[in-house]
Amino acid sequence: MIDIHNHILPGVDDGAKDRDISLAMLQEAVSQGVEELVLTPHLYEADIIKGTGPWKEKVNAAKATVLSLVAEHDLPIKVHVKAEVRYQDLIPVILEELDVLMGGKYMLLEFHFLSVPNHLDRIIYEMTKKGVVPVIAHPERIKPWQRDPAQIEELLNMGCPMQLDIGSILGTLGPASLKLAHLLLENDAVHLVGSDSHGLDNRPLYAKRGYDWLSDRYGEEYADILLKDNPKKILTGEHIAVYPTNIVPVAPSLKERIKSMFKR
Ligand SMILES: [Fe+2]
Repeated sequence: MIDIHNHILPGVDDGAKDRDISLAMLQEAVSQGVEELVLTPHLYEADIIKGTGPWKEKVNAAKATVLSLVAEHDLPIKVHVKAEVRYQDLIPVILEELDVLMGGKYMLLEFHFLSVPNHLDRIIYEMTKKGVVPVIAHPERIKPWQRDPAQIEELLNMGCPMQLDIGSILGTLGPASLKLAHLLLENDAVHLVGSDSHGLDNRPLYAKRGYDWLSDRYGEEYADILLKDNPKKILTGEHIAVYPTNIVPVAPSLKERIKSMFKR
C-alpha cells in the first residue's frame, strides 16, 4: 500500500512530536503492509507569511531524521516529503518556492473545516492553468459540505480527485464525517484514501483496517484502486480519471426513519 497523507514527519506540525514517535509510526506503517509513504506536513499561510525559508529548513531537517531512521532500522519503506497545503492566497508563492507537488502535478489541498472560499471554480481553474491538479484532502470533514454534499459536485466536474481519511470511513472521526464518507463512496466519488495519521494514539495509522473494510464492502479490486493504484498514479504524475457525479443522498434506513419520527 501507499499512504499519501500522514503527519509522520517529526516536530513540524501537530503530528509526530519527536523522532521516537516518528520511528514507531514508520514501524507501524511497515507492519500494516505500507510500502511507500508521502509525508504531508501541514502548510498554512502563517508558515510562509515571512518567507518560505524557515519552513523549508524545518522540513528538510525533519526529512533527514526520517531518512536516517529508515536506514538505521533497515525499514522496507520508501519515503517522500511533500505537504498538505491549506487553501490560501499564497499558493502562487508556494508553487514558485517549495517542492510540494506529488508526481510533479498533484497538490494535496485542504480547506478550512468551517468555511470554503467562494468562487471555487475560479480558484481551481487558476491552479489547473498552471498544470496543478488539486487532490482534495478529506472533503467529508468539511462542515459546509457535510450540510450540502452537492457542493462537491463542482470539484468533481473540474477533475479534482477526492481523498478520504480512513478514520472517517471507519467512524473514528465522528458521525458527520462517517455519513459523508459513506455517501461519497456510494456515489463513486472517491479516488484515494489516506491515513492522515497524527500519532500512535491520536488518529493512528489505520491503513490495514481501511483496506480490509473497503475490500469487504466493495471488493479487493476497489480497495487496491484507492490504496495502491491511484496513489501510485499520484506519485508518477499519471492521470486519474475523475467523472462528474451527482451526489445523491442515500435513502435513510428503517432504523433511522423510526429514530427521526421520535425526534419530532
Ligand atoms: Fe492531514
